[in-house]
Amino acid sequence: MNQKTIFTLALGLLIGFCACNNLSPQDRLTVNDDKINDIIAQMTLEEKVEMLHSKTIMSSEGVPRLGIQDIKYADGPFGCREEVGDGFRALGWTLDSATYFPTGSALAATWSSELAYKYGQGMGSEWRTRGKDVILGPAMNIQRLPVCGRHYEYFSEDPILNAMLATEFTKGAQDMGTAVCLKHYAVNNQETNRGSVNAVIAERPLREIYLKAFEKAVVEGGAMSVMTAYNKVNGYYCSENAHLNNEILRDEWGFKGFTVSDWGGTHSTMGAALGGLNVQMTGDSYLGPALIDSVKAGKVPEKVVDDKVRELLRVRFAITPIPEDEANKVMTSQPFGQNIAYEVAQKSIVLLKNEGAVLPIEKKEVKKIAVVGLNATASTAAGGMGAGVKTLYEITPLLGILNEVGEDVEVEYVQGYKNYMGMFGGWMRRSAGAADNSIATAIDEPADPAMLAEAVAAAKDADMVIFFAGTNKFIESEGSDRQNIDLPVGQNEIVKALAEVNDNIVTVVISGGPCDLREVQKYSKALVQGWWNGMEGGTALAEVLFGKIAPSGKLPFTFPLQLEDSPAYALDVFPQKADVAGDLFGNQYRQDIGGQRRFRQPLSPDALYSEGSLVGYRWFDTKNVDVLYPFGYGLSYVTFDYANIKTNKTSYKENATIKVSFDITNNGDMVADEVPQVYVRRIDAQVEWPEKELKAFDRVTINPGQTKTVTLEIPVSELRYWDESINGWNLEKGQIEIVAGSSSRDLHLSTVVTLI
Ligand code: BGC
Repeated sequence: MNQKTIFTLALGLLIGFCACNNLSPQDRLTVNDDKINDIIAQMTLEEKVEMLHSKTIMSSEGVPRLGIQDIKYADGPFGCREEVGDGFRALGWTLDSATYFPTGSALAATWSSELAYKYGQGMGSEWRTRGKDVILGPAMNIQRLPVCGRHYEYFSEDPILNAMLATEFTKGAQDMGTAVCLKHYAVNNQETNRGSVNAVIAERPLREIYLKAFEKAVVEGGAMSVMTAYNKVNGYYCSENAHLNNEILRDEWGFKGFTVSDWGGTHSTMGAALGGLNVQMTGDSYLGPALIDSVKAGKVPEKVVDDKVRELLRVRFAITPIPEDEANKVMTSQPFGQNIAYEVAQKSIVLLKNEGAVLPIEKKEVKKIAVVGLNATASTAAGGMGAGVKTLYEITPLLGILNEVGEDVEVEYVQGYKNYMGMFGGWMRRSAGAADNSIATAIDEPADPAMLAEAVAAAKDADMVIFFAGTNKFIESEGSDRQNIDLPVGQNEIVKALAEVNDNIVTVVISGGPCDLREVQKYSKALVQGWWNGMEGGTALAEVLFGKIAPSGKLPFTFPLQLEDSPAYALDVFPQKADVAGDLFGNQYRQDIGGQRRFRQPLSPDALYSEGSLVGYRWFDTKNVDVLYPFGYGLSYVTFDYANIKTNKTSYKENATIKVSFDITNNGDMVADEVPQVYVRRIDAQVEWPEKELKAFDRVTINPGQTKTVTLEIPVSELRYWDESINGWNLEKGQIEIVAGSSSRDLHLSTVVTLI
């Protein structure tokens, strides 16, 4: 299947969609219902139930007798995973190397709806090339805990930013003819005990913070499938949570597609059948023979099964199956996706500090650069547990720098610190033999004296040092959370030692989630958050460091001063102190692959969401807690002036839209992007509100000396709160302050309007 065919297919789909354009994105899925009902009428109960569980580890059954193809899934969320067989064993195909797109938090740092849409397109097109129907992504849980193992896959601590990214990703991917599968629905914010933990959460934060992005991606984006999370929410597993799956997703939001359990996350026949699950992944222990028995025994009405089949067939009809002999004809990664990965990487990099304008580096002024740190060369595409991409290529930071400086500057690379590989480290060390000393035995192992000495020597005779700090894919990984946000393997000690011999240090942090940067910040003139930035990440980083482009990323989450300041830690509700008998996914793997049969029934500890809506900056700002770097923060090589805030009216009714305009001037001498942000504060409110909340933002490119007027829109409906007393959305009338600026703690302009 080549690119041209994919575009023709996508165009056909678009034309089809335009034809039913007056339907809502979800209702478009119902256009084939008559045909589908005829098909259901011809199916046996056994054939219907055959569709409701996995066929292989990455597919579910169609209706072979009636010529309806299987549904084929592949893991995202930042690239099409290589072809895997049972037990996720790679099958060693030659054409399945995909584009490694920047991971979730990097995409989020662009704050760009245009790029989120393109990202979805890039992903969607590669799924088609591989003959796949459903992207297991976007991964869009709120970043509640700085330590969350999947922080890097997720987007943001803020629901509005999260919602925009998930919705645009969805539109982009589905416009290319591939369905998304929004994951993990819902309140899957920790990996600790993920398979059984019970999130205890009030309805208001559930709706306003944790479900917002799912709602928008379903209602506005038209998402065709949803993956239920492993955990429980308020007492019920997500795969059998009728409140989430039936009352909210289907009845309120009008979802017409299908749900699939996270792999190994189905727990009962009756619960799943009546609680809104369509597909058990994986196995057929619940939505297989036991469901047939339950229907025959009159416990589950056959209509429930028919509804599930109808929802699956709607997606099957909306997504054109790729014939076996057309799929996988060319390499999965193509320039179309690679260029998108590059563009996203360029706009995601966040400049945190730039004392004395040490950045951008003037090539003419440096003869020798010491590049210190394993993260300059380590791959971030794969490794650890869970999401990863067999990338076609990966421009690491070191390669990016070497390509950029060419012959002009001497670059000396030293590893600086050991590799930490978590539980894989032991195996690696054992297989490499006792002599191998390059893999750390503990994450907090102090710097290795020989490596440290080598790094100091390199720094001593260089004009500047670029130090690569951060985590890796074993430290931030699915299945476990970090113990803390400390920099690992003696990195603080190393940067301090480097600073003793060279005061020209630029530190680049390669991580998906936040790290405690207090020490490196002290010893570095400049500090850059470089993310896990995809296959072109090194190119983009070098372009920023050497001033080809101005940095323009903004933090999609807060960097706390210390972990203990963040809400769940401050309120002592995380980590929960319970032994839950292993990770559910690991247990399933041992059962399927290792043939082990007995596991202790996992306990189900409560995760109390005691902070309510005060997640991320909402907590720090409301409680007046200092942070290291605030939400929305990011410097450029230019400065911007903000002036002349105006609104189109002074008072607004519930169905109106507030239009806020202001001017931004680029004071520098290079073209640069800015991400203006608009927050709302309540004045004399009776309802409890966070100190402020993000309500609108944009990304604008401004030429040197140019002033641009931006107009951002806030629908008044977005200012409502979930009123538990009426179990619905409600608007608190009265005055609100609208503040605008370049981060949540750098707000230059303010005006007041009234909600009437
Ligand atoms: C993850 C999902 C993933 C699935 C299939 C699970 O462990 O939580 O995000 O899509 O595995 O690989």
